[in-house]
Amino acid sequence: MYRTHHCGELNASHINQTVTLSGWVHKSRDKGFVAWVDLRDRYGITQLVFDADRTDKNLMESARGLGREFVIQVTGTVIERASKNPNIPTGEIEILATALTVLNTAKVPPFTIEDETDGGEELRMKYRYLDLRRNPVKNKLIFRHKVVQEVRNYLSSKEFIEVETPYLIKSTPEGARDFVVPSRMNEGQFYALPQSPQTFKQLLMVGGMDKYFQIVKCFRDEDLRADRQPEFTQIDCEMAFVEQEDILNAFEGLTRHLLKTIKGVEVDAFPRISYDEAMRTYGNDKPDIRFGMKFGELNAIAQHKDFNVFNKAALVVGIAVPGGNKYSRKDIDKLIDWVKRPQIGALGMVYVRCNEDGSYKSSVDKFYDQDDLAKWAKATNAKAGDLICVLSGKTNEVRAQLSALRMELAGRLNLRNPKEFAPLWVTDFPLLEWDEDTQSYHAMHHPFTAPKSEQISLLNSDPAAVKADAYDLVLNGNEIGGGSIRIHDKTTQALMFRHLGFTEEESKSQFGFLMNAFEYGAPPHGGIAFGLDRLVAILGGQETIRDFIAFPKNNSGRDVMIDAPAPIDKAQLDELGLKTK
Ligand code: AMO
Repeated sequence: MYRTHHCGELNASHINQTVTLSGWVHKSRDKGFVAWVDLRDRYGITQLVFDADRTDKNLMESARGLGREFVIQVTGTVIERASKNPNIPTGEIEILATALTVLNTAKVPPFTIEDETDGGEELRMKYRYLDLRRNPVKNKLIFRHKVVQEVRNYLSSKEFIEVETPYLIKSTPEGARDFVVPSRMNEGQFYALPQSPQTFKQLLMVGGMDKYFQIVKCFRDEDLRADRQPEFTQIDCEMAFVEQEDILNAFEGLTRHLLKTIKGVEVDAFPRISYDEAMRTYGNDKPDIRFGMKFGELNAIAQHKDFNVFNKAALVVGIAVPGGNKYSRKDIDKLIDWVKRPQIGALGMVYVRCNEDGSYKSSVDKFYDQDDLAKWAKATNAKAGDLICVLSGKTNEVRAQLSALRMELAGRLNLRNPKEFAPLWVTDFPLLEWDEDTQSYHAMHHPFTAPKSEQISLLNSDPAAVKADAYDLVLNGNEIGGGSIRIHDKTTQALMFRHLGFTEEESKSQFGFLMNAFEYGAPPHGGIAFGLDRLVAILGGQETIRDFIAFPKNNSGRDVMIDAPAPIDKAQLDELGLKTK
């Protein structure tokens, strides 16, 4: 038997017991007549003591030969510690060793296995198995496990059943590129890895499963960001005989359950706003509502003077920065440079200082008097002591720019408190989105999303105006889930494909299986998928998902530990009927 206990459980109640522990040498200290070793495993650290009076000489020598991260097995007696460590659960005791076996030696690790390590990101990714031994990383995986456990418990208690769907499939369009897998048995043909199990979960509804969920890997070949990985995990869900309201209620229930059980936080009913309102008020379809700084549109009160920049703009819009009047001229110039960076792309920024005495001082005083500026302050909800920042230009661009500024300033002002949780439903998304590059419409959510029934007739006359029964769940400014009510009849689905520019043959060859299924009694259905990695990261108080994934990819989509992707040999290529360049 390798161990009788683990390294986190022994305390004063075990004194005088003989125990055996196994683990890694975390640290050792040698004072000549006495040596201590901190033995670590997943559960904690236990101090071992070897001393010249009580320990056999050979054993003492062996203890001195131990290096960091050696794997050892130790037997000894639990004794009371002379100097106790109140910071760890095992801090009252130590083990007076009577036997020591080195189970494996270890090279000196390339970075320190401590909570605060000296290892850089890339190095830690390369030796991820060592990084996993560090508490911050280990604890994030344990945390993820707890969230997953709660998800399974909750959904199972609500009669959802977990069904696995295949990974070797045909393209399911979710807006990214597919990862493809060549088929050896069908030369020249490829499987696509699922961007989501979307079509399969709909077929499960046709199959009468009624309430489905799956904690499932999805694969998307898209540019990576802090909240995106090429393979990530969804909590994928679908329900039959439901309307949007049923889905929002069901998954508000799941989210509340997680907030309560995982974070001990009770939240009121989630606010809901439409996509249009979110864009108008926050310039963003995933607004962080933990703080205000709502947009104030100024067109009506700023476009009547000789200031041409505003007069020719489609949108003039501002936000009030709480306490921003204290910024120096230099601070404000830096802010202007910030919005002018290519990543943000604003041409400039107008500002108004709201003085404590109720007067205003703006960068456009030449054009606007105190009455004008008082109206701007009202529209942006600015108080004395605030700074109003105003951007202007094309509507969508200006909204994105001001939204970026809002988030940046909120970060600097510590308004994005990771311990606070502000969920929000964003509803009534547009069905279609105009793509400048291809000069065509594509589905904003995915092509299986149902248009609002009363708006189907608009599809021909004003496609951009058609809204969908589609919704996102937003938590602290992050999209953690998205879903929709689906089309469940062949005619509407065919109409939708037509509007997305598919010929009849194309829609038949790609999605004939789904449209055929719709002819055999498809029930009305809808669903949602949560991004599990994002959800876990945000519940854990962070926005970078990488640390909550055991073996993540780096920013270029590489696994630097196993060195993938990698070339394959010629024989394998030949077998697959593939040629290299
Ligand atoms: P959607 O594409 O919105 O919907 O994806 C659902 C959720 O998955 C998360 N997500 C990601 N997380 C990490 N890395 C990525 N690359 C990534 N891409 C998406 C987001 C997102 O909200 N089939 C539909 C769901 C449905 O209609 O039921 C779908 O996949 O948190």
